[in-house]
Amino acid sequence: MCGIIGYTGNENPVSFLIKGLKQLEYRGYDSAGIAVFSDNGTHIVRAVGPVRNLEHKVSKLSLQGFSGIGHTRWATHGKVTEGNSHPHQAGRITLVHNGIIENYSELKEQIEQIGRTLKSETDTEVLAHLIDIEVEKGFLLLEAITRVIPKLRGSYAFVVSDPEDPRCLIGVSQGIPLWVGNSNGNMLLSSDSRGLSLFTNEGFVLKSAEIVQCRPGSFQVFDFSGHLTTKNISLTQLSNDSSELVGFEHYMMKEIYEQPLAVLNTKAKLIQSAQLYSLPFKLWDHVQLMGCGSARHAGLVAKHYFEQIVGVTATVDYASEFSDCFNHTQPSTLVILISQSGETADTLSALRAAKNRGLATLSITNRKQSSLSLESDFCLFTEAGCEISVASTKAFTSQVSLLLALAYEWSYQIERVESSFRPQLNPYLSALPEQIAQTLQRDKQIRFIAEKLLSSRSFFFLGRGVLFNVAQECALKLKEISYCFAEAYPAGELKHGPLALIDKDSTVILLTTRGSTGDSVSDPLTHLQQDKMKNTLQEVKSRGAFIWTWGADTPYFRQESHEFPPLPSSHRFTEPILHTVLGQLFAYHLAHLKGAEIDKPRNLAKSVTVE
Ligand code: F6R
Repeated sequence: MCGIIGYTGNENPVSFLIKGLKQLEYRGYDSAGIAVFSDNGTHIVRAVGPVRNLEHKVSKLSLQGFSGIGHTRWATHGKVTEGNSHPHQAGRITLVHNGIIENYSELKEQIEQIGRTLKSETDTEVLAHLIDIEVEKGFLLLEAITRVIPKLRGSYAFVVSDPEDPRCLIGVSQGIPLWVGNSNGNMLLSSDSRGLSLFTNEGFVLKSAEIVQCRPGSFQVFDFSGHLTTKNISLTQLSNDSSELVGFEHYMMKEIYEQPLAVLNTKAKLIQSAQLYSLPFKLWDHVQLMGCGSARHAGLVAKHYFEQIVGVTATVDYASEFSDCFNHTQPSTLVILISQSGETADTLSALRAAKNRGLATLSITNRKQSSLSLESDFCLFTEAGCEISVASTKAFTSQVSLLLALAYEWSYQIERVESSFRPQLNPYLSALPEQIAQTLQRDKQIRFIAEKLLSSRSFFFLGRGVLFNVAQECALKLKEISYCFAEAYPAGELKHGPLALIDKDSTVILLTTRGSTGDSVSDPLTHLQQDKMKNTLQEVKSRGAFIWTWGADTPYFRQESHEFPPLPSSHRFTEPILHTVLGQLFAYHLAHLKGAEIDKPRNLAKSVTVE
């Protein structure tokens, strides 16, 4: 949610800022802007839309300077206009900001009462005024910032400059990360390590409630009282994730195709992780899973794993609801927080609420040194690599496979002998990357079906048990990138109301189990589930809907469905991942055929750092 970049060094800042913003663009793309500082003052350029619009404007100017700041925006306060784009200026002060100043309305009133006028609708401009008021009184920039911080409520990171000292940039982090990098004496500030990665492979992240002051070739870190911190700061190796499209048209498709490797790496790293084997599994008999969007869907899938493989009870909450809800969590509860970015504000707030209740917390995240990983008691990492497309694909399947392997290990450690799944499951877990690769071979077929469904008015994803949870993920993916109406229902629930929506312009996608053994009718549970799905199929067929069955490979489903992409035979706990892959491919192709902006869907951003 918004990306910020800062540069001070011995070269012209412009190309650092534009290249850095392109790296951060996945965080928000409503508008972008830069400010360049030199002896001739401050030059600001801003443009609505993606960074390329800003780049085009900048290319017509010959901007020169010692330092600069840049921002790519996901609008929260104020419409998507050039006037609301960052950088914002008040008097001498220019700044870029990520996060929210929660008490900005009352601060705005105070500022207006002393005769200042705000030009934008943003909370950021309030911050610029507050700092400017202090520098006007004669305080140096660092002092001015420490005088303003106690007045602010919320989580934020910002980078600020004062033309009195144009080679100096000051960055502040409160609950939202800000990275510092050094590239041969060029100092960079960025919302994440990706923003630095084109320039340096060394950096560190500020702790919350820290301030960094950067000059060419040096930096100092202060606490919020303005005291220099004495701790040793070591520059860590930044991850070297490839951000090239390598022949793919979009990051989403590249990331869909990276799933066999992401899942393989996640399991390989997990089983070497000392953290996994140090988890005190015997202390817990209940799991509370939380996350947002796709990450919560991973939790919904994993609930089945914890209940059926480990034999503990499990509940799943929206992270955004947890801090407000009364719930019956026992001390023997393990709270599992799932987040690709590790920076989602709602998930962080759920983590803090769980810790306040004295509960043990385990985070599952894709980002080392993320706030979630640093603040939780235990942390396990997915190894999906950098996910750039806003729609989550490889992060989701890596989360599900990690949670499955975790449940497996947990049942092993507590010696849950009655778990009948254990002996069968391991080979399927090992075969999963290969099965995902086989599922990806359906790509062309899925595109062909998407072409047929271009005029469909509504999409209903139906499943039973864990496949209903996968149906939820498939519907979310379709909504967010194709902007089509899509909904998921437990198959048996359809007849209790939603059936009224089904007509000849509807598409119904039945996520059915193929069964563990490949011989789908020999397993009683498979048999039962398939029988019940047959009833659902007939209910929608008689209303004229287009019927598309995933999974069950039987003559009945082949004959009764309009389309039928078979899936490899797998275990019923790994099968959900294969269904997800079909859902991702379908969402991608439908959105592509409709001409939608795949990697940057409207109104969304990759990392949602506001509640
Ligand atoms: C959907 C999607 C979002 C995220 C959600 C949580 O495709 O990407 O629903 O899953 O915003 O983000 P993280 O996992 O970073 O906490």
